[in-house]
Amino acid sequence: MKAKILNSKSKSVVSKHIYGHFAEHLGRCIYEGFWVGEESQIPNHKGIRLDVVNALKELKIPVLRWPGGCFADEYHWKDGIGPQKERKKIVNTHWGGVVENNHFGTHEFFDLCELLGCDAYVNGNVGSGTVQEMQEWVEYMTFDGESPMANERKQNGREQPWKVKFFGVGNESWGCGGNMRPEYYADLYRRYQTYVRSYQADAPIYKIACGPNVDDYHWTEVLMRNAGSFIDGLTLHHYALASNWENKRPATKFPKEEWFSLIESAQKMDEFITKHSEIMDKYDPEKKVNLIVDEWGSWLAVEPGTNPGFLYQQNTIRDAMVAAVTLHIFHKHCARVSMANIAQTVNVLQAMILTEEQNMLKTPTYHVFEMFKAHQEGELLELAIENELPHLSLSATRKNEMITLSLCNYSLEDTKRVAYTLEEGVFTKIEAFGLIGDQMDAHNTFTRPEQVRKTKFTDFTIEDNQLIVNMPPMSVVTLSL
Ligand code: AHR
Repeated sequence: MKAKILNSKSKSVVSKHIYGHFAEHLGRCIYEGFWVGEESQIPNHKGIRLDVVNALKELKIPVLRWPGGCFADEYHWKDGIGPQKERKKIVNTHWGGVVENNHFGTHEFFDLCELLGCDAYVNGNVGSGTVQEMQEWVEYMTFDGESPMANERKQNGREQPWKVKFFGVGNESWGCGGNMRPEYYADLYRRYQTYVRSYQADAPIYKIACGPNVDDYHWTEVLMRNAGSFIDGLTLHHYALASNWENKRPATKFPKEEWFSLIESAQKMDEFITKHSEIMDKYDPEKKVNLIVDEWGSWLAVEPGTNPGFLYQQNTIRDAMVAAVTLHIFHKHCARVSMANIAQTVNVLQAMILTEEQNMLKTPTYHVFEMFKAHQEGELLELAIENELPHLSLSATRKNEMITLSLCNYSLEDTKRVAYTLEEGVFTKIEAFGLIGDQMDAHNTFTRPEQVRKTKFTDFTIEDNQLIVNMPPMSVVTLSL
């Protein structure tokens, strides 16, 4: 296959927020995954485990969404402030019916964002919360003056307000967030967002409305028509399934057909974004409203013996393929898609990191995010393709004169040869890394945490200013030029 890199012109910029993450009070994501408490033997800063923070910093994690998910529409933020030991214990009814002690609340979330150096995306409660509650939360977090909520924040130890870059007005309001019809939610959105005030002139809050589930085009139509002028970002949720919702398939030891069915399900993202964007274009031709894919990733069966409500699944080289092809789809649509948040960061669904007490491992998906980080804020470069090959996905961006090429070969047997040419210039100084599976469920375990890891990639040559890359089966490769 030939791919000419059209580097004389560039397209839109791939926002760094496309490489965003999501952490919900679900299973062992927040508790154990991020939060171990100050008294833990696990090295921590104010109760937040440092091994996980350091690993995520290597990804240049740009934004973290919290506290849910479905949990967001049951979360009452005042339960999570003040002295930890005095905080109310509640039942996490969505996720396993376990006790939520609220030790991780607003202050702890912002401590985490500060440690990670990332932007905060806070998801508010519309399903079971009031307008007043939402208004007061925003005031508590962001107001820098004399006010009841700002004073309470100061009494709780935080003098300066935080910056809330993104605020979500409800989550999955068509489902776990209240089972609403789009007309009703559009009206509620208009009302609630009115009180999401931007108190900081230099940091206006970007308001996110609950958007459609997968192919619910009617939802998008109604939201854009009835509330579009009040929305900065509209969400889209799509999870990759190897079969269907009722029949979640195993994360490891799966048959060959499920290698392909999962990746094909992930690729549906392209169609969903395209069709939702067409509707958005009708109401917003200037692309002022962004599409925010704030939940995506593989949703597979939980690991045997674990709580079904905790959504703890293994992560293999197949998930790395899902990540790579999906991130390439986001690149392609970066003029409309300005943020995406893979679900979820630690110990839940398609995680970057798995933990077991004091141990931590990086999943194959982690390595894709690490290898692709050079794409963050890069200008998308078009590729003119000839003799397209199946099971191959490519993307190219440029930042500070450096071009980053990423390729994913999700064939199980075939090596693919890609011959790149440059529209302008010559190939020089190439550094390449690969993530290569030796079997289709290759994965890392706590006894063998480095089974699947990034290695130097050398199977490329330059001949007559053609860069020839030989992509082994089940591989993701990045080249920086
Ligand atoms: O990510 C797990 C759950 O999936 C979220 O809580 C919800 O928003 C979605 O249905």
